Amino acid sequence: MSTFQSFPSNFVWGAATASYQIEGAWDEDGKGESIWDRFTHTPGHVFEGHTGDVACDHYHRWPQDIELMKSLGLRAYRFSIAWPRILPDGRGRVNQAGLEFYSRLVDGLLAAGITPFVTLYHWDLPQALQDAGGWPARATAEAFVEYAGVVSAALGDRVKNWITHNEPWCVSILSHQIGAHAPGLRDTEAALRAAHHVLLSHGWAVPVIRANSPDAEVGITLNFEWIDPACRSAADARMAREADGRFNRWFLDPLYGRHYPADAVAGYAAALPNGLDFVLPGDLDAIAAPTDFLGLNYYSRRVARDEEAADNLPQEILADRPRTEMGWEEYPEGLYGLLNWLHFGYRPPKLYVTENGASFGNGPDAAGRVADTRRLNYLRDHFSAARQAMNNGVPLAGYFVWSLMDNFEWAEGYRQRFGIVWVDYETQQRIPKDSALWYRDVIAANGFEAQPD
Ligand code: FCB
Repeated sequence: MSTFQSFPSNFVWGAATASYQIEGAWDEDGKGESIWDRFTHTPGHVFEGHTGDVACDHYHRWPQDIELMKSLGLRAYRFSIAWPRILPDGRGRVNQAGLEFYSRLVDGLLAAGITPFVTLYHWDLPQALQDAGGWPARATAEAFVEYAGVVSAALGDRVKNWITHNEPWCVSILSHQIGAHAPGLRDTEAALRAAHHVLLSHGWAVPVIRANSPDAEVGITLNFEWIDPACRSAADARMAREADGRFNRWFLDPLYGRHYPADAVAGYAAALPNGLDFVLPGDLDAIAAPTDFLGLNYYSRRVARDEEAADNLPQEILADRPRTEMGWEEYPEGLYGLLNWLHFGYRPPKLYVTENGASFGNGPDAAGRVADTRRLNYLRDHFSAARQAMNNGVPLAGYFVWSLMDNFEWAEGYRQRFGIVWVDYETQQRIPKDSALWYRDVIAANGFEAQPD
């Protein structure tokens, strides 16, 4: 029996990156400072003081990088725009050199037959806006709309796929409550204000992008975790429900017209002495602006366990699965579950996996080959899970592997390698790993053997 998993002929096979993680050239050609420039230049935030100052030097090497994508047969490339290259002060003055960089990149991709998917915000807020209050301030949402207008007016004739934001949970909670990412705050109320303004800026920007980019498709990318209770105890079930409310539904529900989830609002009561006073009349309608697709970033599952509860049954904790070098459990079933939940529960017109991938450090052997077998297997298992969900009717239109190449992994610096292409940071040489060569074959065949011998 054949185990070949085939995909629809128009399935969008792609790879993803983000501006700060690959571009380098942090202060070239009129670019303003971003919060990630400030964060990495301040000691104590990132593994061994790594910065994105040079990163993969993609700002200078983009023509070769397009050649690389072409050699893999990628049909689409998801990248992000650095807001401070376009508006160095966050608002007002436009830096033409910044716009021209992305315009050349878009032209190069189109000439290579690769469809650009543009993310407007993948975390590099202009520092000037941070100094004026950052995402906890409502004015930042207005600034985002101005920025989205400038970029979509300049590129909207050629770019037809727009993602407003990447992972609002990371922008708000990870960066303002947990403090692991720029700007490194630890304030839950500020984090929830930030979350609201990110969502609001999305809703406000959607019609602006549509007006500037006729026939374009516009969406947003959220990060999801599949959350299971460690055992069947009521305490663990409560923990899982709470984690799901804070991580998944807090962002998803307002986008689909359901307000912030009541259980999660109640759970945050202590952190919100003034309630949701930052939600003004009309905001929730704006956030629920109809979109063309939902982007889903998926890496792992979370197991929720109430260590202290009397009714917890510790002997029933779920089996431990293999983990990637980020410590993230490999759990392709979670992707299957999430795709079904999103489709049957929220009915977005279309879904994309806008990120999925794994960190493994394998480097070149003496012959220059990078045998990253575990990444290859990880991708194959997750592609299979996606295919299975499509069999249920889930309208999955494409899949972007994270990442095209090894790059600056935020607080982890360069020690985590997510690329399907190896990057030698000394020489900037790129070497496609076995996973990239396998992916090239998947794209060419529009499918793969689910269980190779
Ligand atoms: C996601 C980010 C992406 C990358 C991966 C590993 O949360 O969107 O930039 O860092 O994780």
